[in-house]
Amino acid sequence: METSFDLNGRVALVTGASSGIGRATAEALAASGARVAINFHRNRAGAEAARAEIVGRGGTAIAVQADVTRAGEVQSLVEQTNAELGPVDILVNNAGSLVERLRILELTEERWDEVIDLNLKSAFLCCKAVAGSMMERRAGAIINVSSIAGRNGGALGSIHYSAAKGGLITFTKGLSKELAPFGVRVNAVSPGVIDTPYHEQFSSPEMMKTYAGMIPLGRVGTPAEVGQVICFLASDAAGYLVGETIEINGGMLMD
Ligand code: NAI
Repeated sequence: METSFDLNGRVALVTGASSGIGRATAEALAASGARVAINFHRNRAGAEAARAEIVGRGGTAIAVQADVTRAGEVQSLVEQTNAELGPVDILVNNAGSLVERLRILELTEERWDEVIDLNLKSAFLCCKAVAGSMMERRAGAIINVSSIAGRNGGALGSIHYSAAKGGLITFTKGLSKELAPFGVRVNAVSPGVIDTPYHEQFSSPEMMKTYAGMIPLGRVGTPAEVGQVICFLASDAAGYLVGETIEINGGMLMD
């Protein structure tokens, strides 16, 4: 994958990078010269395949298992990355999922907490684990992967997910105000409908057809198209972007 951004010498950590947007982002960051830690939870094979792809192209990557909803595991993830690659310069909080489409009467407290933890608390934990070192070194870029659902409430059955993704946009703004004075930029991307395993699980073929009809570009996006924008946000080319959320949706939602 070709990219236009120079990330040589940087260390990147991408959560949930064994598939979809996370994997494409890890590959794009590596293609830009970064050494990459590929975090995975259960899909070790996907993470190993991503690592092999990067190494096969001459890059440097490690695969590290951690459940990013657990503070202790996040701490170990960052420590292992630090030990094997060096301190994290670029953090991409990508891990996330809708888990299950449920409307309010079926949505349990447990499921609510699980989805908020996975899509929102995980970003807090990962940011907290790298922020001190970034502030000390007065450098760093954090990119949170939100969603169009965080803007418009999402398709039916996603109030838990859309609330978490909306929270992530506000979290991005708030944290960027804390960290910008230390030279650390925090931004987000808000993908629309991207062709990943997410939709195999949560969207029927009919829904995908309907989505495509709602997109001015006439097609859903690719994970690589999200990875490229994340590389841009990670790079010095985005040096004056702070607290921003970039829509990547083919024109599906503009505001
Ligand atoms: P995906 O299902 O391929 O990726 C999600 C990744 O998160 C998986 O690799 C999964 O293993 C990982 N993960 C789940 N729980 C985890 C945990 N506890 N700890 C560590 N990793 C964990 O789907 P996709 O689409 O690539 O999703 C990536 C991100 O993009 C998610 O945050 C999703 O909400 C977001 N997104 C996706 C859109 C789409 O249309 N595909 C649209 C908007 C946002």
